[in-house]
Amino acid sequence: MSRPLSRPATVLLTGATSGIGAALLDRLLDQGHAVLALSRHAAHLPARAGLHPVTADLTDLAAIPGLAAGLLAAHPGLSVLINNAAVQHARPLTDPASQPRHLIEESALNLAAPALLVQALLPHLLRRPDGVVVNLSSGLATFPKEAGGLYSATKAGLSSFTTALRWQVEGSGLLVSEVVLPLVDTPMTAGRGRGKIAPELAAAAILRGVEARRETIRIGAARALPLLQAVAPWLGRRLLRGN
Ligand SMILES: NC(=O)c1ccc[n+]([C@@H]2O[C@H](COP(=O)([O-])OP(=O)(O)OC[C@H]3O[C@@H](n4cnc5c(N)ncnc54)[C@H](OP(=O)(O)O)[C@@H]3O)[C@@H](O)[C@H]2O)c1
Repeated sequence: MSRPLSRPATVLLTGATSGIGAALLDRLLDQGHAVLALSRHAAHLPARAGLHPVTADLTDLAAIPGLAAGLLAAHPGLSVLINNAAVQHARPLTDPASQPRHLIEESALNLAAPALLVQALLPHLLRRPDGVVVNLSSGLATFPKEAGGLYSATKAGLSSFTTALRWQVEGSGLLVSEVVLPLVDTPMTAGRGRGKIAPELAAAAILRGVEARRETIRIGAARALPLLQAVAPWLGRRLLRGN
């Protein structure tokens, strides 16, 4: 079993234009990997060696199988999928500004799109000795945020999906990693929260975790969550409710 990312790999990274995705993109390119950098505005990324921008809207769920097939045909060396793109509409349903389209976007982009990408790429990834799937979850998968009910639920769903996927491919050599992040200083968290970590730090920790073949990559304050859940779940709920 090869050590992931120890040799130049071809990586499909969603949400590569901002925040943690942009930091992952920089680091992967610096390390000499080829990156299919997917987002709605990928065409705006400055050209760099190894960068292949992929302009796509992942809320168009029906288009994902065809999109993935096209990427595989053009990049048969693809071995790593990083499901990073997500959106958060931090607004309680009691807020009149909360719209049906917000819920549709969150559930499609954060949960259905990663599952569809995995489904489309799985036969290919299972044939490779160096296959990796990385799904970005959150501490809010464990303790939800009051104003982000559906966002938290999509992250809890992605976490469950990741565990079940790992069981489905057990023994195949495919690494399936879940990343549990604390608050990171990105456009998603602009104007809220304290003690945020830099996206560059998050990206470095994610890639170190993948290189070490870790199934669960907990970063910073997110490392305390399993203990909190076991010993004082009421405290966890209180701490993350207003996150
Ligand atoms: N920031 C945090 O504190 C934090 C904490 C826990 C977990 N996370 C998770 O970490 C990941 C990255 O978060 P972030 O804070 O870096 O977010 P971000 O800065 O808001 O970036 C989101 C990315 O998703 C892309 N995107 C949005 N809508 C899209 C669509 N319809 N189709 C394709 N791409 C789309 C955006 O690019 P375009 O606009 O160009 O499409 C952008 O590149 C997410 O999964 C998030 O849930 C973040």
